[in-house]
Amino acid sequence: MDPVSIIRKKRDGESLTRKEMNLLIGGIGNETLPDYQAAAFLMATYIRGMNRDETRWLTEAMMNSGEVVDLSKVSGFTCDKHSTGGVGDKITMIIAPMAATLGLKVPMYSGKGLGHTGGTIDKLDAIAGFRTTLDTAAFVRSLNDIGIANSMQTETIAPADKRLYALRDVTATVDSIPLITGSIMSKKLACGANGLVLDVKFGNGAFMKTEQEARELASWLISMAPIRNIRVCALIDNMDDPLGYMVGNALEMMEVIDVLKGKHVNDLIEISTAIVSEMLRLSGETGNVEAMANEVLEDGRALAKFREWVAYSGGDAAVIDDFSRFPQASSRMDIVMGKAGYISQIYAQAIGEAAVYSGAGRLAKEDTLDYGAGIQLHVRRGDRIEAKDPVATLYFSTPRRDPGEIAEMIRGAFQLSEKPVPPLKRIVDTIHQ
Ligand code: URA
Repeated sequence: MDPVSIIRKKRDGESLTRKEMNLLIGGIGNETLPDYQAAAFLMATYIRGMNRDETRWLTEAMMNSGEVVDLSKVSGFTCDKHSTGGVGDKITMIIAPMAATLGLKVPMYSGKGLGHTGGTIDKLDAIAGFRTTLDTAAFVRSLNDIGIANSMQTETIAPADKRLYALRDVTATVDSIPLITGSIMSKKLACGANGLVLDVKFGNGAFMKTEQEARELASWLISMAPIRNIRVCALIDNMDDPLGYMVGNALEMMEVIDVLKGKHVNDLIEISTAIVSEMLRLSGETGNVEAMANEVLEDGRALAKFREWVAYSGGDAAVIDDFSRFPQASSRMDIVMGKAGYISQIYAQAIGEAAVYSGAGRLAKEDTLDYGAGIQLHVRRGDRIEAKDPVATLYFSTPRRDPGEIAEMIRGAFQLSEKPVPPLKRIVDTIHQ
Protein backbone atom coordinates (compact mmCIF):
# COMPACT_ATOMS: atom_id res chain seq x y z
CA MET A 1 0.00 0.00 0.00
CA ASP A 2 1.61 3.25 -1.11
CA PRO A 3 0.28 6.82 -1.29
CA VAL A 4 -0.01 6.74 -5.09
CA SER A 5 -2.30 3.69 -5.08
CA ILE A 6 -4.46 5.26 -2.32
CA ILE A 7 -4.79 8.53 -4.25
CA ARG A 8 -5.56 6.53 -7.44
CA LYS A 9 -8.31 4.63 -5.62
CA LYS A 10 -9.94 7.88 -4.51
CA ARG A 11 -9.46 9.40 -7.97
CA ASP A 12 -11.36 6.44 -9.44
CA GLY A 13 -14.24 6.89 -7.02
CA GLU A 14 -13.55 3.92 -4.76
CA SER A 15 -13.92 4.05 -1.00
CA LEU A 16 -10.81 4.10 1.15
CA THR A 17 -10.32 1.77 4.08
CA ARG A 18 -9.50 2.89 7.61
CA LYS A 19 -5.95 1.60 7.18
CA GLU A 20 -5.46 3.54 3.94
CA MET A 21 -6.82 6.71 5.51
CA ASN A 22 -4.53 6.34 8.53
CA LEU A 23 -1.52 5.89 6.28
CA LEU A 24 -2.26 8.90 4.12
CA ILE A 25 -3.37 11.30 6.87
CA GLY A 26 -0.57 10.09 9.15
CA GLY A 27 1.90 11.11 6.43
CA ILE A 28 0.24 14.51 6.14
CA GLY A 29 0.38 15.05 9.90
CA ASN A 30 4.03 14.04 10.31
CA GLU A 31 5.03 15.81 7.09
CA THR A 32 6.40 12.73 5.34
CA LEU A 33 3.83 13.02 2.54
CA PRO A 34 4.75 15.83 0.14
CA ASP A 35 2.34 18.69 -0.59
CA TYR A 36 1.74 17.55 -4.18
CA GLN A 37 0.36 14.19 -3.05
CA ALA A 38 -1.70 15.79 -0.27
CA ALA A 39 -3.10 18.26 -2.84
CA ALA A 40 -3.95 15.43 -5.26
CA PHE A 41 -5.76 13.59 -2.46
CA LEU A 42 -7.74 16.75 -1.65
CA MET A 43 -8.81 17.26 -5.26
CA ALA A 44 -9.76 13.59 -5.69
CA THR A 45 -11.83 13.82 -2.49
CA TYR A 46 -13.40 17.09 -3.57
CA ILE A 47 -14.55 15.62 -6.88
CA ARG A 48 -15.42 12.07 -5.80
CA GLY A 49 -16.67 12.81 -2.27
CA MET A 50 -16.51 10.41 0.66
CA ASN A 51 -19.13 8.27 2.32
CA ARG A 52 -19.81 8.60 6.06
CA ASP A 53 -17.51 5.73 7.05
CA GLU A 54 -14.61 7.18 5.11
CA THR A 55 -15.31 10.62 6.57
CA ARG A 56 -15.29 9.09 10.05
CA TRP A 57 -11.89 7.52 9.37
CA LEU A 58 -10.62 10.77 7.89
CA THR A 59 -11.76 12.67 11.00
CA GLU A 60 -10.33 10.05 13.34
CA ALA A 61 -6.97 10.00 11.54
CA MET A 62 -6.81 13.81 11.55
CA MET A 63 -7.63 13.87 15.27
CA ASN A 64 -4.93 11.26 15.97
CA SER A 65 -2.34 13.22 13.97
CA GLY A 66 -1.69 15.27 17.14
CA GLU A 67 -2.44 15.60 20.84
CA VAL A 68 -5.73 14.12 22.00
CA VAL A 69 -6.49 16.11 25.13
CA ASP A 70 -7.48 14.15 28.22
CA LEU A 71 -9.97 16.04 30.37
CA SER A 72 -10.65 13.12 32.70
CA LYS A 73 -9.11 15.11 35.57
CA VAL A 74 -11.85 17.72 35.21
CA SER A 75 -14.74 17.04 37.56
CA GLY A 76 -18.20 17.45 36.04
CA PHE A 77 -19.65 17.49 32.53
CA THR A 78 -17.39 19.25 30.05
CA CYS A 79 -19.25 20.90 27.19
CA ASP A 80 -17.77 22.78 24.27
CA LYS A 81 -19.43 24.97 21.65
CA HIS A 82 -18.40 25.57 18.07
CA SER A 83 -19.66 28.17 15.63
CA THR A 84 -19.03 27.81 11.92
CA GLY A 85 -18.30 31.54 11.91
CA GLY A 86 -20.18 34.75 11.46
CA VAL A 87 -19.99 38.53 11.65
CA GLY A 88 -20.36 40.06 15.12
CA ASP A 89 -20.41 36.55 16.60
CA LYS A 90 -19.46 37.13 20.25
CA ILE A 91 -21.68 34.34 21.59
CA THR A 92 -18.79 32.35 23.13
CA MET A 93 -18.05 35.11 25.64
CA ILE A 94 -21.70 35.21 26.71
CA ILE A 95 -22.38 31.47 26.93
CA ALA A 96 -19.16 30.47 28.71
CA PRO A 97 -19.95 32.35 31.97
CA MET A 98 -23.65 31.40 31.74
CA ALA A 99 -22.90 27.67 31.39
CA ALA A 100 -20.12 27.69 34.00
CA THR A 101 -22.43 29.38 36.52
CA LEU A 102 -24.90 26.56 35.94
CA GLY A 103 -22.27 23.98 36.87
CA LEU A 104 -20.97 22.94 33.45
CA LYS A 105 -17.26 22.92 32.61
CA VAL A 106 -16.61 24.85 29.41
CA PRO A 107 -13.37 23.93 27.62
CA MET A 108 -12.79 25.89 24.44
CA TYR A 109 -9.90 26.09 22.00
CA SER A 110 -10.46 29.05 19.72
CA GLY A 111 -8.84 30.74 16.76
CA LYS A 112 -7.90 34.18 15.51
CA GLY A 113 -9.98 35.79 12.81
CA LEU A 114 -9.02 35.75 9.15
CA GLY A 115 -11.17 37.26 6.42
CA HIS A 116 -14.59 38.74 7.11
CA THR A 117 -15.39 36.63 10.21
CA GLY A 118 -13.84 37.54 13.55
CA GLY A 119 -12.03 35.25 16.00
CA THR A 120 -12.72 34.71 19.70
CA ILE A 121 -9.04 35.02 20.64
CA ASP A 122 -8.82 38.49 19.08
CA LYS A 123 -11.87 39.61 21.05
CA LEU A 124 -10.45 38.37 24.36
CA ASP A 125 -7.12 40.01 23.46
CA ALA A 126 -8.95 43.36 23.47
CA ILE A 127 -8.88 43.11 27.29
CA ALA A 128 -5.39 44.14 28.45
CA GLY A 129 -3.47 41.28 30.05
CA PHE A 130 -5.97 38.48 29.23
CA ARG A 131 -3.98 35.22 28.81
CA THR A 132 -5.21 33.46 25.67
CA THR A 133 -2.59 30.73 25.46
CA LEU A 134 -2.81 27.95 28.04
CA ASP A 135 -0.86 24.70 28.09
CA THR A 136 -2.86 21.56 28.83
CA ALA A 137 -2.10 21.63 32.58
CA ALA A 138 -3.18 25.28 32.89
CA PHE A 139 -6.24 24.54 30.74
CA VAL A 140 -7.36 21.74 33.09
CA ARG A 141 -6.59 23.88 36.16
CA SER A 142 -8.69 26.74 34.82
CA LEU A 143 -11.62 24.37 34.21
CA ASN A 144 -11.44 22.99 37.73
CA ASP A 145 -10.93 26.42 39.33
CA ILE A 146 -13.52 28.56 37.52
CA GLY A 147 -15.36 26.23 35.11
CA ILE A 148 -14.06 27.94 31.94
CA ALA A 149 -10.88 27.53 29.91
CA ASN A 150 -10.34 29.23 26.60
CA SER A 151 -7.05 28.96 24.82
CA MET A 152 -5.68 29.55 21.39
CA GLN A 153 -5.66 26.29 19.48
CA THR A 154 -2.16 24.95 19.97
CA GLU A 155 0.09 23.63 17.20
CA THR A 156 -0.15 20.16 18.71
CA ILE A 157 -3.90 19.72 18.03
CA ALA A 158 -4.73 18.05 14.69
CA PRO A 159 -1.58 19.13 12.80
CA ALA A 160 -2.88 17.26 9.73
CA ASP A 161 -5.74 19.78 9.59
CA LYS A 162 -3.36 22.70 9.74
CA ARG A 163 -1.54 21.41 6.66
CA LEU A 164 -4.65 20.32 4.80
CA TYR A 165 -6.48 23.58 5.51
CA ALA A 166 -3.60 25.65 4.11
CA LEU A 167 -3.56 23.44 0.99
CA ARG A 168 -7.36 23.56 0.58
CA ASP A 169 -7.17 27.34 0.53
CA VAL A 170 -4.86 27.31 -2.50
CA THR A 171 -6.30 24.31 -4.38
CA ALA A 172 -9.99 25.34 -4.55
CA THR A 173 -11.01 22.47 -2.29
CA VAL A 174 -12.41 24.33 0.73
CA ASP A 175 -16.15 23.79 0.22
CA SER A 176 -16.31 20.03 0.43
CA ILE A 177 -18.57 18.55 3.12
CA PRO A 178 -16.28 15.59 4.03
CA LEU A 179 -13.23 17.88 4.19
CA ILE A 180 -15.04 20.52 6.28
CA THR A 181 -16.38 17.77 8.55
CA GLY A 182 -12.92 16.26 9.06
CA SER A 183 -11.42 19.68 9.69
CA ILE A 184 -13.95 20.89 12.28
CA MET A 185 -14.60 17.63 14.08
CA SER A 186 -10.98 16.40 14.26
CA LYS A 187 -10.11 19.52 16.26
CA LYS A 188 -13.23 19.45 18.41
CA LEU A 189 -12.88 15.73 19.21
CA ALA A 190 -9.18 16.17 19.99
CA CYS A 191 -10.14 18.78 22.60
CA GLY A 192 -11.79 16.14 24.71
CA ALA A 193 -15.12 17.54 25.92
CA ASN A 194 -18.01 15.22 26.86
CA GLY A 195 -20.51 17.30 24.90
CA LEU A 196 -20.52 19.73 21.98
CA VAL A 197 -23.13 22.21 20.77
CA LEU A 198 -22.58 23.21 17.17
CA ASP A 199 -23.84 26.55 15.90
CA VAL A 200 -24.10 25.98 12.15
CA LYS A 201 -24.81 29.23 10.37
CA PHE A 202 -26.12 29.89 6.90
CA GLY A 203 -26.65 33.03 4.85
CA ASN A 204 -24.83 35.96 3.43
CA GLY A 205 -22.14 36.25 6.13
CA ALA A 206 -21.68 32.50 6.67
CA PHE A 207 -19.60 29.73 5.20
CA MET A 208 -22.74 27.82 4.15
CA LYS A 209 -24.93 30.04 2.00
CA THR A 210 -28.25 28.16 2.22
CA GLU A 211 -30.26 26.59 5.03
CA GLN A 212 -30.18 23.27 3.17
CA GLU A 213 -26.35 23.31 3.06
CA ALA A 214 -26.20 24.13 6.77
CA ARG A 215 -28.54 21.24 7.59
CA GLU A 216 -26.47 18.88 5.47
CA LEU A 217 -23.22 19.98 7.16
CA ALA A 218 -24.81 19.70 10.63
CA SER A 219 -25.89 16.14 9.92
CA TRP A 220 -22.35 15.14 8.86
CA LEU A 221 -20.75 16.88 11.84
CA ILE A 222 -23.11 15.20 14.30
CA SER A 223 -22.47 11.78 12.79
CA MET A 224 -18.78 12.01 13.85
CA ALA A 225 -19.73 11.96 17.56
CA PRO A 226 -19.17 8.18 18.05
CA ILE A 227 -15.44 8.60 17.34
CA ARG A 228 -14.97 9.73 20.97
CA ASN A 229 -18.42 8.79 22.16
CA ILE A 230 -19.45 12.38 22.85
CA ARG A 231 -22.92 13.96 22.85
CA VAL A 232 -23.51 16.48 20.07
CA CYS A 233 -26.36 18.65 18.81
CA ALA A 234 -26.56 21.50 16.31
CA LEU A 235 -28.43 24.77 16.03
CA ILE A 236 -29.14 25.95 12.51
CA ASP A 237 -29.26 29.71 12.35
CA ASN A 238 -29.42 32.59 9.94
CA MET A 239 -26.37 34.81 9.43
CA ASP A 240 -27.69 37.09 6.69
CA ASP A 241 -27.32 40.13 8.99
CA PRO A 242 -24.53 40.70 11.58
CA LEU A 243 -25.17 39.40 15.11
CA GLY A 244 -25.86 42.12 17.64
CA TYR A 245 -24.92 45.75 16.98
CA MET A 246 -21.13 45.71 17.35
CA VAL A 247 -18.48 44.39 14.96
CA GLY A 248 -14.84 44.81 16.03
CA ASN A 249 -12.89 43.42 18.96
CA ALA A 250 -13.20 45.94 21.83
CA LEU A 251 -16.64 47.00 20.58
CA GLU A 252 -17.84 43.39 20.71
CA MET A 253 -16.45 42.86 24.21
CA MET A 254 -18.35 45.98 25.35
CA GLU A 255 -21.53 44.51 23.87
CA VAL A 256 -20.88 41.18 25.65
CA ILE A 257 -20.57 43.04 28.95
CA ASP A 258 -23.72 45.07 28.23
CA VAL A 259 -25.67 41.86 27.59
CA LEU A 260 -24.31 40.27 30.78
CA LYS A 261 -25.40 43.44 32.62
CA GLY A 262 -28.94 42.94 31.32
CA LYS A 263 -29.12 44.85 28.02
CA HIS A 264 -31.69 43.17 25.80
CA VAL A 265 -30.02 42.50 22.44
CA ASN A 266 -32.61 40.06 21.07
CA ASP A 267 -30.57 37.90 18.72
CA LEU A 268 -27.60 37.56 21.10
CA ILE A 269 -29.90 36.51 23.91
CA GLU A 270 -31.93 34.16 21.70
CA ILE A 271 -28.85 32.29 20.48
CA SER A 272 -26.99 32.34 23.81
CA THR A 273 -29.90 30.97 25.82
CA ALA A 274 -30.59 28.33 23.14
CA ILE A 275 -26.96 27.15 23.23
CA VAL A 276 -26.77 27.06 27.04
CA SER A 277 -30.09 25.19 27.15
CA GLU A 278 -28.74 22.57 24.74
CA MET A 279 -25.50 22.30 26.73
CA LEU A 280 -27.56 21.61 29.85
CA ARG A 281 -29.67 19.02 28.01
CA LEU A 282 -26.53 17.25 26.77
CA SER A 283 -25.30 17.09 30.37
CA GLY A 284 -28.46 15.19 31.32
CA GLU A 285 -30.32 18.09 32.95
CA THR A 286 -34.05 17.39 32.76
CA GLY A 287 -35.42 20.57 34.36
CA ASN A 288 -36.61 23.72 32.58
CA VAL A 289 -33.28 24.49 30.93
CA GLU A 290 -34.53 27.60 29.12
CA ALA A 291 -35.66 29.13 32.42
CA MET A 292 -32.30 28.25 34.02
CA ALA A 293 -30.40 29.89 31.15
CA ASN A 294 -32.53 33.04 31.25
CA GLU A 295 -32.31 33.34 35.01
CA VAL A 296 -28.53 33.20 35.17
CA LEU A 297 -28.34 36.04 32.69
CA GLU A 298 -30.99 38.14 34.40
CA ASP A 299 -29.87 37.77 38.00
CA GLY A 300 -26.29 38.93 37.37
CA ARG A 301 -24.58 35.60 38.18
CA ALA A 302 -23.25 35.25 34.61
CA LEU A 303 -21.76 38.74 34.85
CA ALA A 304 -20.08 37.83 38.16
CA LYS A 305 -18.64 34.68 36.53
CA PHE A 306 -17.38 36.74 33.59
CA ARG A 307 -15.63 39.07 36.04
CA GLU A 308 -14.05 36.06 37.74
CA TRP A 309 -12.93 34.64 34.36
CA VAL A 310 -11.28 37.93 33.31
CA ALA A 311 -9.48 38.36 36.65
CA TYR A 312 -8.41 34.68 36.77
CA SER A 313 -7.00 35.03 33.25
CA GLY A 314 -4.85 38.03 34.21
CA GLY A 315 -7.10 40.49 32.36
CA ASP A 316 -8.01 44.01 33.45
CA ALA A 317 -11.41 43.33 35.06
CA ALA A 318 -11.89 47.09 35.63
CA VAL A 319 -12.94 47.33 31.94
CA ILE A 320 -16.26 45.82 33.01
CA ASP A 321 -17.19 49.01 34.86
CA ASP A 322 -15.18 51.45 32.80
CA PHE A 323 -15.28 51.00 29.00
CA SER A 324 -12.74 53.83 28.56
CA ARG A 325 -10.10 51.27 29.62
CA PHE A 326 -10.66 49.39 26.34
CA PRO A 327 -8.52 50.36 23.33
CA GLN A 328 -10.25 53.33 21.69
CA ALA A 329 -10.36 54.46 18.08
CA SER A 330 -9.07 57.98 17.46
CA SER A 331 -11.68 58.81 14.79
CA ARG A 332 -15.31 58.08 14.03
CA MET A 333 -17.61 58.65 11.11
CA ASP A 334 -21.42 58.39 11.09
CA ILE A 335 -23.09 56.80 8.09
CA VAL A 336 -26.48 58.00 6.86
CA MET A 337 -28.54 56.61 3.98
CA GLY A 338 -29.89 59.91 2.65
CA LYS A 339 -33.37 58.43 2.24
CA ALA A 340 -36.11 57.09 4.46
CA GLY A 341 -37.45 53.52 4.59
CA TYR A 342 -37.46 50.22 6.43
CA ILE A 343 -34.21 48.24 6.81
CA SER A 344 -34.74 45.05 4.81
CA GLN A 345 -31.21 43.56 5.09
CA ILE A 346 -27.76 44.43 6.43
CA TYR A 347 -25.36 42.32 4.37
CA ALA A 348 -23.19 40.62 6.98
CA GLN A 349 -20.32 39.81 4.65
CA ALA A 350 -19.99 43.44 3.51
CA ILE A 351 -20.03 44.65 7.14
CA GLY A 352 -17.41 42.02 8.04
CA GLU A 353 -15.18 43.13 5.16
CA ALA A 354 -15.59 46.80 6.06
CA ALA A 355 -14.59 45.96 9.65
CA VAL A 356 -11.42 44.29 8.35
CA TYR A 357 -10.57 47.48 6.40
CA SER A 358 -11.22 49.59 9.50
CA GLY A 359 -8.30 47.69 11.11
CA ALA A 360 -10.39 45.28 13.23
CA GLY A 361 -9.48 42.20 11.16
CA ARG A 362 -6.70 40.73 9.07
CA LEU A 363 -6.26 40.66 5.31
CA ALA A 364 -3.15 38.49 5.77
CA LYS A 365 -2.20 36.22 8.67
CA GLU A 366 0.63 38.47 9.79
CA ASP A 367 -1.44 41.71 9.90
CA THR A 368 -1.63 43.44 13.29
CA LEU A 369 -5.01 44.45 14.67
CA ASP A 370 -6.41 47.73 15.88
CA TYR A 371 -8.54 46.51 18.79
CA GLY A 372 -10.46 49.78 19.01
CA ALA A 373 -11.55 49.74 15.34
CA GLY A 374 -14.85 48.46 13.98
CA ILE A 375 -18.44 49.29 13.25
CA GLN A 376 -21.41 50.04 15.45
CA LEU A 377 -24.79 49.42 13.85
CA HIS A 378 -27.62 51.60 15.13
CA VAL A 379 -30.50 49.77 13.46
CA ARG A 380 -31.70 46.23 12.72
CA ARG A 381 -33.74 44.63 10.01
CA GLY A 382 -37.32 45.88 10.25
CA ASP A 383 -36.44 49.29 11.79
CA ARG A 384 -37.85 52.45 10.19
CA ILE A 385 -35.28 55.19 9.46
CA GLU A 386 -35.48 58.76 8.23
CA ALA A 387 -33.05 60.16 5.66
CA LYS A 388 -30.72 61.79 8.19
CA ASP A 389 -30.69 59.03 10.82
CA PRO A 390 -27.22 57.48 11.27
CA VAL A 391 -27.48 53.75 10.52
CA ALA A 392 -23.92 52.96 11.61
CA THR A 393 -20.73 54.50 13.00
CA LEU A 394 -17.28 53.57 11.71
CA TYR A 395 -14.47 53.64 14.31
CA PHE A 396 -10.85 53.76 13.11
CA SER A 397 -7.33 54.94 13.89
CA THR A 398 -5.09 53.42 11.19
CA PRO A 399 -7.51 52.04 8.58
CA ARG A 400 -6.37 49.73 5.79
CA ARG A 401 -8.30 51.83 3.24
CA ASP A 402 -9.55 55.37 2.84
CA PRO A 403 -12.27 55.84 5.52
CA GLY A 404 -14.61 57.39 2.92
CA GLU A 405 -14.40 54.17 0.86
CA ILE A 406 -15.08 52.06 3.96
CA ALA A 407 -18.09 54.24 4.78
CA GLU A 408 -19.37 53.62 1.23
CA MET A 409 -19.00 49.85 1.74
CA ILE A 410 -21.02 50.11 4.93
CA ARG A 411 -23.71 52.22 3.29
CA GLY A 412 -23.89 49.65 0.48
CA ALA A 413 -24.51 46.88 3.02
CA PHE A 414 -27.88 48.40 4.03
CA GLN A 415 -30.94 47.64 1.92
CA LEU A 416 -34.06 49.74 2.31
CA SER A 417 -37.66 48.92 1.54
CA GLU A 418 -40.64 51.25 1.32
CA LYS A 419 -42.85 48.64 2.99
CA PRO A 420 -42.54 47.35 6.58
CA VAL A 421 -40.19 44.36 6.94
CA PRO A 422 -40.36 41.67 9.69
CA PRO A 423 -37.32 41.23 11.96
CA LEU A 424 -34.86 38.47 11.03
CA LYS A 425 -35.64 35.06 12.48
CA ARG A 426 -32.31 33.60 13.60
CA ILE A 427 -32.73 30.00 14.82
CA VAL A 428 -34.59 27.84 12.33
CA ASP A 429 -33.98 24.42 13.89
CA THR A 430 -32.08 22.35 16.43
CA ILE A 431 -30.85 18.95 15.29
CA HIS A 432 -30.19 16.20 17.79
CA GLN A 433 -28.04 13.10 17.50
N1 URA B 1 -13.75 25.73 9.94
C1 URA B 1 -12.75 24.81 10.02
O1 URA B 1 -12.08 24.70 11.05
N2 URA B 1 -12.51 24.04 8.95
C2 URA B 1 -13.22 24.13 7.81
O2 URA B 1 -12.96 23.39 6.88
C3 URA B 1 -14.26 25.08 7.74
C4 URA B 1 -14.50 25.88 8.83
